[in-house]
Amino acid sequence: MKAAEPTPGEQPGAARPGLTRRGVLAVAAGGLIAGTVVTLSGWTPLPKPILAPSGGGTRSPLPIPPLAEPEVAHDGTRIFSLTAQTGESRIHPGGPTPSWGYNGAFAGPTLRAAEGDRVRIVVRNELPETTTVHWHGMKLPAQYDGGPHQPIAPGEEWVAEWEVEQPAATCWYHPHTHGTTEAQVGRGLMGLFILQDELSEWSGLPVDYGVDDVPVLVTDRSFNADGSFAERERTAFGLLGDTLLVNGALSPTFEVTRQLTRLRLLNGSSARTYHFVVQGASMTLIGTEAGLLPGPAPINSVTLTPGERAEVLIELEPGQTAMLQSVPHSLGLLQSTSRAAGADDRFDVLELRAAASFDGPALAVAELSMLAAALPPPFETPDVTRSMVLTNNRINGATMEMSRVDQVVTLGARERWVVDNQHHLPHNLHIHNARFMIVSVGGEPPRDFERGWKDTVYVPPGRPVVIDVEFGRSSDPEWPYMFHCHWLMHHDMGMMGQFVVIDDTQEPPTAISTPAVRAANTAGGKHGAH
Ligand code: C2O
Ligand code: CU
Ligand code: CU
Repeated sequence: MKAAEPTPGEQPGAARPGLTRRGVLAVAAGGLIAGTVVTLSGWTPLPKPILAPSGGGTRSPLPIPPLAEPEVAHDGTRIFSLTAQTGESRIHPGGPTPSWGYNGAFAGPTLRAAEGDRVRIVVRNELPETTTVHWHGMKLPAQYDGGPHQPIAPGEEWVAEWEVEQPAATCWYHPHTHGTTEAQVGRGLMGLFILQDELSEWSGLPVDYGVDDVPVLVTDRSFNADGSFAERERTAFGLLGDTLLVNGALSPTFEVTRQLTRLRLLNGSSARTYHFVVQGASMTLIGTEAGLLPGPAPINSVTLTPGERAEVLIELEPGQTAMLQSVPHSLGLLQSTSRAAGADDRFDVLELRAAASFDGPALAVAELSMLAAALPPPFETPDVTRSMVLTNNRINGATMEMSRVDQVVTLGARERWVVDNQHHLPHNLHIHNARFMIVSVGGEPPRDFERGWKDTVYVPPGRPVVIDVEFGRSSDPEWPYMFHCHWLMHHDMGMMGQFVVIDDTQEPPTAISTPAVRAANTAGGKHGAH
């Protein structure tokens, strides 16, 4: 099916009252919560912003995930520890919310490392079920990728170790199990992994974590009356929540104390897409998922589909207030479809409230020097061109099979992938161990907020996306990497394939036979066997 609305951008007139499927839940403030729970609706285009009925005093401060303090070994290796655990979060007035987190009850600490650092991450699983931890956006040896081939059974520990081989970027980490990713991420398992480099440190970009360098993890959830997460209400694309959580909080506000604030936006939702705008201040794009732009680029808005990130700067004067919102946008879909991806909704995300006077350096966007190396032009003659056809939960006609090798990439090859969504639903494509530049979308140049290094790209139906891909420096014929749709229900339903990277001395494998595959085979499990 062809796209019904090929034009991207906001549709301010999209409100159509009367299409309510379920009413908008409005919960009065409870004892634990200093504000009102305000809800989104997956099906109802709301006529006005729903998170800020009055502005002002009802907002709670934006929680900042703690910055993980690594232990530094004699050889300089930075050692982080993450424990995946169960807990209870105080989010909803109905009662405590059973939730999952790393080193805490919900989400995880922010990890930070610099290009050239050696990192070791010790992951302990104290959950009642098997999990994995994948480093989304990271180029690293496949055996540490943390996908379905690196399961961590309850009570066990898994250690990943690599040298950071890429420049500054906002990566993140989350479970990547075969079939239970949506549920595990939905309970709270996610965190940021910030990479730094020297060029960007010298540029003047804000780097004071939690002060002017601010993580903004945006997710949506629904709640049962007792405060627990409602996990069964799903659309064709997975869980679409009616309540927005920003770093795990409802209706938060952030107190700005510097002229420039850097927001690291992550769409950690399962199915909801966001189109971010800022009311009351200008927004400047400085980075996309997999890296910084060479220089700041003024933008009006940025769309993020599940798994995508963007770094933006907001410049405020003392005493000024601005609002980060998500507004209706076109995904190039039929109207009914875009409603179920949340694309018709309008709501406040984060209030930015500048203090009466600033304490830090007064630096303006215009004073920043070069942030990153120049972006490369498209490959003149790609070494390989691959076609990825997306259909109903399939890539090139197949669903995920852990023992199957779908693609073999030669180390250092300049690969062009043509990703064609031939389905009427929204899908995106994320590639592990890689970053890419968008060459074109439906034959047109990418939108302004997509012109940078990416690792996840939205693929509108009927408009093939051409990307030039740069893979990491590791090769290994035994352990595969994944490429997949990041709508997490599609991910769980097997809309995923595997590739290995080999150098020219290594033989392309005919099958994958990791311990996880062998265990599934001996158990007679459905995952590894043909
Ligand atoms: Cu964020 Cu393969 O995933
Ligand atoms: Cu990934
Ligand atoms: Cu999909």
